[in-house]
Amino acid sequence: MFYLSETLTGVSVVAGPGSSDLANNIATRLGAPLNVAALRIFSDGESNIKLGKAGKNCIIVQSTHPPADTHLMQLLMMAKKCTDDGAQHICAVIPYLCYARQDRAFLEGEVVSIDLMAKLFETVGVKHIITVDIHSQLALSYFTSIQNVSSVPLLAEYASKMNLHDPIAVSPDEGGANRAKEFARYLDIDVLALKKYRHRVTGEVTVDEKLDMDISKRDAIVIDDIISSGGSVIKAAEVLQKKGIGRIFAMCAHALLIREAAQKIKSAGIQEIISTNSVPGEYSKVDLSSEIASALKSRY
Ligand code: R5P
Repeated sequence: MFYLSETLTGVSVVAGPGSSDLANNIATRLGAPLNVAALRIFSDGESNIKLGKAGKNCIIVQSTHPPADTHLMQLLMMAKKCTDDGAQHICAVIPYLCYARQDRAFLEGEVVSIDLMAKLFETVGVKHIITVDIHSQLALSYFTSIQNVSSVPLLAEYASKMNLHDPIAVSPDEGGANRAKEFARYLDIDVLALKKYRHRVTGEVTVDEKLDMDISKRDAIVIDDIISSGGSVIKAAEVLQKKGIGRIFAMCAHALLIREAAQKIKSAGIQEIISTNSVPGEYSKVDLSSEIASALKSRY
């Protein structure tokens, strides 16, 4: 463990309401004081944020998981407060960066929301962003200063202790193939990338059932950046089960798990959901603080 305060004074970690435990872990690793945001939600749903006086260098930790707009607004409010207090440098640690999937106009007339996000952060004085497993390289391109930390080494470390039988890493789609390959490399296991198709308007997901590998009785870890409705991992599980797979585990950086997603995933025969604390909750079994603290150290 290193202590940032030994080399840099005036650094404080602001703990946003969406990431209080992660912020605490990061502050401990940095040996930096914690400035905890006090939150009140008004009856109309608006947030009220109260923050201690910010120092020269502020690291605001706030993931923008659902309710995404609320967490985003809280983050903007915290950054505005730090700027108003005279902070010279504000770094926002946003493990789950909402709107990153809206990185282009898929249909005519659609707003490229991630572009707006980048402009909003600049407006409130955020100078640098650290995020985790952002959905696409294109999303990164809208920001002037952003670092994308991979959760794969930490997820692989967790998987290495799971006592798996002849495991394979599975990507539910070709877009996630590189992530699954990196994960498989850490564990020295086979990798399989399924071919997923999503209907742009209805959102319906289908998966090609032709596999070029014998997977019978082997354990599978389906690894993705985000599990949202659970549709992608469930479709992947259905295909794997038809081919006689053994146990199936779902791993991801960001377990949004909208509505009944967790229940549906378990009902589909998936043994366990394992995610990082990018989205805090029952499934956030992997702490991101070591990787984020390393990224911050290289920054300051
Ligand atoms: C899609 O390209 C992403 O990598 C994820 O596979 C997707 O966002 C997961 O969403 P859902 O759980 O709703 O299928």
